[in-house]
Amino acid sequence: MKAIILSGGKGTRLRPLTYTGAKQLVPVANKPILWYGIESIVAAGITEIGIIISPETGEEVKTKTGDGEQFGAKITYIVQESPAGLAHAVKIAQPFLGDSPFVMYLGDNLVQSELDLFLEQFHAANLDALTLLCPVANPSAFGVAKVDEQGRLLQLVEKPKDPPSNLALVGIYIFSPVIHDAIAAIQPSPRGELEITDAIQMLIDQQKSVEARQIRGWWLDTGKKDDLLEANRIILDTCLQTNLQGEVDEQSQIIGRVEIGTGSKVINCTIRGPVTIGKDCHLENCFIGPYSSISDQVTLINADLEHSVILKGATVEGIHHRIVDSVIGRRAHLKEAPRRPKALRFMIGDDCQIELN
Ligand code: TTP
Repeated sequence: MKAIILSGGKGTRLRPLTYTGAKQLVPVANKPILWYGIESIVAAGITEIGIIISPETGEEVKTKTGDGEQFGAKITYIVQESPAGLAHAVKIAQPFLGDSPFVMYLGDNLVQSELDLFLEQFHAANLDALTLLCPVANPSAFGVAKVDEQGRLLQLVEKPKDPPSNLALVGIYIFSPVIHDAIAAIQPSPRGELEITDAIQMLIDQQKSVEARQIRGWWLDTGKKDDLLEANRIILDTCLQTNLQGEVDEQSQIIGRVEIGTGSKVINCTIRGPVTIGKDCHLENCFIGPYSSISDQVTLINADLEHSVILKGATVEGIHHRIVDSVIGRRAHLKEAPRRPKALRFMIGDDCQIELN
C-alpha cells in the first residue's frame, strides 16, 4: 500500500497567504497542516508516500518536510506542472504508484478519524474504491454522495443545488489501480480540471466495487480562513499539553493549558489557554486569549488577542483594540500610534481583508 498527498493547487481561497507560500504549510497549532496528514498515513502503517507539489511552492514544501525520516516514512516529491485537477495529480503520480493500491489524501484536509479501520475494510471487501463521507449542514457547497443501505456508493454530485443527501466527500480516498484506467478515460470538466469525482463515477457506472463510509468525529478543509481558525481551535482543544520551556516573569499569569517554546520571553502578560507560543518570541504587556497559536520569532508588545493565528516573524505592537478571529501572515507588521490615531496608514497587498469595527 502506498499513499499520495496532494500539496499543489492554486489556493485561491486562502489568498493573500498563498501568494507567498504553500497553503498546506500554514500552521495549525504551530504544525503545518500537511504534517497531520503525513502522521495519520504513517500511523495507519503506510510509509511510502508521494507528495504532489507545484512548481511555485514545491521547494518550500520539500525543504520544510524533508525526505520523511522525521515521520518514519520515505517521501518522494512529484511535481505537477499546473493545477489541472485532483485526478490529474493521480495521473502524474502513476509511475510512483505502479500497480499498488493507494490512499489519496488532500494536503489541506484534517480529519479526526483513524485510517486503519477504513484500510482494513477496503482490503477485506476487495474494493476498487472507498470514499470517506462526513455529514454537513450545507451539502450544496461540497461533492455529495448518494449511498445505499449496504454502504455502496451510487452517485456523486459536485455542489448540487438539490443535494441527494447531507453526506459530503471528505478529502481522503482509497483506490485500487483500476482508478488509473478510469482517469485515462475521463475528459476535463467545464472548469478545465480532471475531476476525481468523474473518475469515481465512471467506476460506479462500470459496476466496480465502490463503497463509502462515514467518518466519526470532525473533518476540516482548511482552505479558507474561518476553517483554518476552526481547525486551530479544535486541535488546541483536543491535543495541547502544558509545556513551558521559555522564560515567564513573575508579573505574568499563565492560566490553563499553555505551551511556550525555548528562547521565548513572556513579560507582564496574561495568557489564558489553550494557547501555543513557538520559539524565540517576545511577548510584553499582552493579553493572549484562548485558541491562539503564535509561531516562532513573533513579537507582541502591548497587544491583546484571542482566537487568532500569528505566523512566523510577525510583529504586533501597541494595538489598543482586541484582535479576534484573525490570521496574520509571516513577517507582517501591525503598529498603532500610542494614542488614538488621527489617521491610519496602510500598505495592503491584494486580497487582504481588514475590518475596523
Ligand atoms: P482544492 O482546495 O480543491 O484546490 P486549490 O488548492 O487549487 O484551492 P482553491 O480552491 O482555494 O483555489 O485542492 C485540494 C488539495 O489538493 C489542496 O491541498 C491542493 C491540492 N491540489 C493539487 O495538488 N493539484 C491540483 O491540481 C488541485 C486542483 C489541487
